[in-house]
Amino acid sequence: ICVKEKTHPSIFCTPLSLRGVSRGAGAYLQLTFRVRGRVQPGQVASLSQGNTETDSTHRKTPGQESNPRHSCCKATTLPTLSKKYGSVFTVYFGPKKVVVLAGYRTVREALVSNADEFGEREITPMFADLAKHRGMSRSKLLQIFPKVLMNHCKPFNTSCPTNNATSNIIASIVFGSRFEYDDPQFRGLISRITENIKISGLAEIQLYNTFPRLVGWIKSRHVILKNAETTMRKIKDLTQKLKETLNPQICRGLIDCFLIQKQKDEDSCVKDTQFTEENLLYTVSNLFGAGTDTTAATLRWGLLLMAKYPQIQDQVQEELTRVVGSREVHVEDRKNLPYTDAVIHEIQRLGNIAPMAIPHKTSRDVTFHGYFIKKGTTVIPLLTSVLYDESEWESPHTFNPSHFLDKEGRFIKRDAFLPFSAGRRVCLGESLARMEIFLFFTSLLQHFRFIPPPGVSEDDLDLTPAVGFTSPPSPHELCAISRQ
Ligand code: HEM
Repeated sequence: ICVKEKTHPSIFCTPLSLRGVSRGAGAYLQLTFRVRGRVQPGQVASLSQGNTETDSTHRKTPGQESNPRHSCCKATTLPTLSKKYGSVFTVYFGPKKVVVLAGYRTVREALVSNADEFGEREITPMFADLAKHRGMSRSKLLQIFPKVLMNHCKPFNTSCPTNNATSNIIASIVFGSRFEYDDPQFRGLISRITENIKISGLAEIQLYNTFPRLVGWIKSRHVILKNAETTMRKIKDLTQKLKETLNPQICRGLIDCFLIQKQKDEDSCVKDTQFTEENLLYTVSNLFGAGTDTTAATLRWGLLLMAKYPQIQDQVQEELTRVVGSREVHVEDRKNLPYTDAVIHEIQRLGNIAPMAIPHKTSRDVTFHGYFIKKGTTVIPLLTSVLYDESEWESPHTFNPSHFLDKEGRFIKRDAFLPFSAGRRVCLGESLARMEIFLFFTSLLQHFRFIPPPGVSEDDLDLTPAVGFTSPPSPHELCAISRQ
């Protein structure tokens, strides 16, 4: 990683090979990116995926200093660059100019006060390959978790049950029915979605997005495309089955509603209808992609943080027992569970699962904070810098539910809580995700105590995020002990 300043001859370098890339290309490759300030001083910085995001040094445990294993990356993150270059700066990813917005006030001003100018979606080459610009413009809870959680105190990887659960919610919405967890179709669907999200965050894909013509051959891109193609085929088969049993009087799920509208548009010869089969397949696939890994990653952060901070888990469980008892938790219970609500918000804040949101694009020329930004410029709203903004949070790098509580222990909303981003491109699934996270988290804590596996201490539980398009915890195991 290099940060050079042309105006000052000093070069600040730490060695970092784009490991994924060098494996693929068989050579060490270094990209150069320029960072510019207001007067475009021509400073040069090189960045790569993996250091553009937050790193584990931002996830300190209370009273603990930065993790020394990762300190070498600290100076190379975009949030760190923002400390040097300000809240609006330009980074060149190879030839591509990207404007980075940092800090709560700047991100909010751009996405909310200038929603039209900053509200367009950037389509990276990889996105374009996948979507080809298609797509529309915009229980029983414990049954959803497999028996693995209930059976024994055997350590389990939290990834599988959380992905199953969140994916089945999307399945209920789009197909109108759930899958059995051992259904090979369902297993395949989840494994392809999670693999694609993981691979999308690799340096190889970053490189492809920067030089699509040069490195179209890279393996990761082909794995993503193959997975996406298989998923499309499977969704098409499932849609075909729904078509065969379609009753226009009953909408079992989104696909039924879509098919009924499609038929109506065809009958009335509507031109340029968005209700096409292709759009249906891409919409369903996008909902699975956007709605599975994100919510699952948040739940995984939640369970991991509960195992790491047992005193906080105690307080959540005390409140749940006092307010809800043994009946099922309902959405309406949230207002009577201020501590639990604060813990969930803090999990989302510290978990920071979408550190750079999804790139935006300016819809027209705009002058922002004194900088001229041309129409069509890629913009990264750096959500990490909002969720960890030192001027907004009392202890931004520690897990501290008091961020969301007043002195009397009542829940308080915080403006800088933007894990779903803001403005025109705010997460489409925000209300669904918030409901899911609340119901899953509370129901799980009502029934189970989460602890580290035997031989692992709470301090050993690692809060380093894994690499990916989203930022889930690194693979880990926990034990769930029944509270009954
Ligand atoms: C904890 C869970 C979730 C988090 C933290 C999250 C966060 C985000 C973020 C940061 C963005 C990008 C916003 C931007 O570019 O400014 C986004 C976009 C999106 N999310 Fe979510 N999301 C979550 C769950 C979901 C769920 C459950 C669904 C669907 C059911 C969903 C559907 C979408 C869609 C469709 C977009 C693209 C919106 C657009 O381009 O206009 N998300 N989400």
